[in-house]
Amino acid sequence: MQSLLRVDHLSITFSSDAGRHTAVDDLSFSIAPGETLALVGESGSGKSVTALAILRLLDPRANVTGSIWFREEDWLKLPERDMVARRGRDAAMVFQEPMTALNPVMSIGKQIAEGIRIHQRDLSRAAVRQRAIEALESVSIPEPRRRFDDYPHQFSGGQRQRILIAMALANRPSLLIADEPTTALDVTVQAQILDLLRELKQRSNAALLFISHDLSVVAQIAQRVAVMRKGKIVEMATCAQLFANPQHPYTRSLLAAVPTMHSDRNAPLAATEIPTAALESPLVEIATDHWTRAAE
Ligand SMILES: Nc1ncnc2c1ncn2[C@@H]1O[C@H](COP(=O)(O)OP(=O)(O)OP(=O)(O)O)[C@@H](O)[C@H]1O
Ligand SMILES: [Mg+2]
Repeated sequence: MQSLLRVDHLSITFSSDAGRHTAVDDLSFSIAPGETLALVGESGSGKSVTALAILRLLDPRANVTGSIWFREEDWLKLPERDMVARRGRDAAMVFQEPMTALNPVMSIGKQIAEGIRIHQRDLSRAAVRQRAIEALESVSIPEPRRRFDDYPHQFSGGQRQRILIAMALANRPSLLIADEPTTALDVTVQAQILDLLRELKQRSNAALLFISHDLSVVAQIAQRVAVMRKGKIVEMATCAQLFANPQHPYTRSLLAAVPTMHSDRNAPLAATEIPTAALESPLVEIATDHWTRAAE
């Protein structure tokens, strides 16, 4: 199938007085329309910088190479003014921290309306307001008309995350990127947000790039999973394959760290416990749609 997004040989480096740091190293993956792909990996593996690079939201000091094909366009080659027209409309993001992603001194209704107005300049004020209210309704915020003028602190953590999702989906993007959308939430609310994302995805048929460090969360939502380690994909497969037949030592260690009813949580492997070859060897397709790096 034709992919919606194809990240091709993406590398991201940061330069500072301390030297050059490679955050993402030759990363390639694609997402089909309507598909959910999860990026999984420990803190610092390069998940968020990948997401930010796709929307061209990285710090301008970041050095980004490779291509980010969205349909027929390489977004890394677009002038900023064209990117502004696509960001939020073709692809939108739900950020990692709901409290910092929302402006604390602006009502939530106004924040959603602003995002709609950027892309729908011909809509009247009343029509924009109506669209914003519908967006709040779609994520099950009770009494959205009454709550339109309330500020972020007047909502619970789970509701704030719903508001961010409403904001991201208000322009009906074909790709939604959700960066750890449930990490800050307790388990019950986490499950509700996952249900919501699944339901909204089904209704809108948007593709979803779902970022998490938690394989047990990923198992509930993704069709395919890419496991990242130090800016590289070490294994990529359908969710079913990855859980049934994990190949890479790092994937296995992440799976061993998933708590079950019968086991205690083991910590994932430390960097020194994974053979260098397992990060340096090429990604090869060992079965249909199942890619991994050889461990030795
Ligand atoms: N603006 C920046 N300047 C320099 N280095 C950065 C910058 N942003 C990110 N990095 C580095 O890039 C690497 C990847 O960071 P990233 O935020 O993508 O990790 P992550 O996988 O999202 O982790 P987490 O699970 O903690 O969110 C890290 O080593 C980080 O320190
Ligand atoms: Mg992150």
